[in-house]
Amino acid sequence: MGLIKVIMYDSKPYDIESFNIVLEKINQEENKISFTYLETKLNKHTAILAKGYDVVCVFVNDTVDKDVIDILYENNIKVIALRCAGYNNVDVEYCFNKIHVLRVPSYSPNAVAEHTFAMLLTSIRRIHKAYIRTKDNNFSLSGLVGEDLFNKTIGIIGTGKIGKCMINIARGFGMNIKAYDKFIDPNLDVNYCSLEEIYKTCDIISLHCPLTNENRHMINKNTIDMMKKGVIILNTSRGGLINSNDLLEGIKSRKIGAACLDVYEEESDIFFTDKSGHILNDDTLARLITMPNVILTSHQAYLTKEALNNIANTTIENILNYQSVSTSQNEICYHCGNIENCKKNKKLKCF
Ligand code: NAI
Repeated sequence: MGLIKVIMYDSKPYDIESFNIVLEKINQEENKISFTYLETKLNKHTAILAKGYDVVCVFVNDTVDKDVIDILYENNIKVIALRCAGYNNVDVEYCFNKIHVLRVPSYSPNAVAEHTFAMLLTSIRRIHKAYIRTKDNNFSLSGLVGEDLFNKTIGIIGTGKIGKCMINIARGFGMNIKAYDKFIDPNLDVNYCSLEEIYKTCDIISLHCPLTNENRHMINKNTIDMMKKGVIILNTSRGGLINSNDLLEGIKSRKIGAACLDVYEEESDIFFTDKSGHILNDDTLARLITMPNVILTSHQAYLTKEALNNIANTTIENILNYQSVSTSQNEICYHCGNIENCKKNKKLKCF
């Protein structure tokens, strides 16, 4: 087996550190796999840089559309290895019969759920305000009155790996829990209900489903109108689930009590980079940031040591598995999302 050459786009120092630790172990006896790290994102202008490599490794804000796939395919790229779970940025259907797409289905659902609660608690107990005040020797409590989570009703949309961690944490706080999923998990002991019931009855609504064409902008003017006054919206899933302008209007009209966002629809050119000293061109984001009841982090929910280590291990394992057996259990099938499902149901349409 020859050396597998991987080019990683949108690499950050923490990615490089975690991948190099795993590579050192893997390559101890034989040089099996090498990584070249690029800071630039993948798009139709940078795709040509993959020429001469076997595998392209990408993250959430790299663009893998038809133009990019054509360039990669013409340049003999066999595999796109996502170092994330979500794959809404990849035209998986267009990859069919051209390039195999592998992903990391789970790296730390707890990290994301814990961050979601960290944002919720920051907001509901005004920790972001208190932190700045005490740094300035201002020990006044006026304006810092919070709310209990105990007995509040939280609506969890998407009861997969992260949704389940959310449910466990919410139980610890003594919250009432309602859940919605397109595919109900019969083994999960939770009160499933309709989306409409979640919108109409929950004090807090948290999004944990993937972004698809079907649910893009599921939080919009109409659904916000259904919600309780003062509702808190949490989104650590994908920005496109929320119509950001409608969210902003909901906040301005005081309908929405608070929003905690780790993702933003137009995040790809903004998040993960230091923009201090720059003027933000995105007026909606700039206005959201000024709101005292908006907590925004820049797609940070996954960022723990444990998750980075799992991402590096699984990404490299996926590539090595693919190289030795021409597939991987973490290959995405464009028909159902997972090649293992296809195999189980004996309707393998992928490759
Ligand atoms: P998962 O695949 O384990 O669970 C997703 C759940 O959503 C499944 O139960 C599925 O049936 C359900 N679902 C699918 N379509 C739906 C729809 N239209 N409406 C309602 N439910 C639907 O995924 P996991 O690991 O729980 O991740 C959820 C999302 O979190 C990912 O899709 C990704 O977008 C996001 N994520 C964000 C991270 C961050 O750092 N902010 C890190 C990792 C994931």
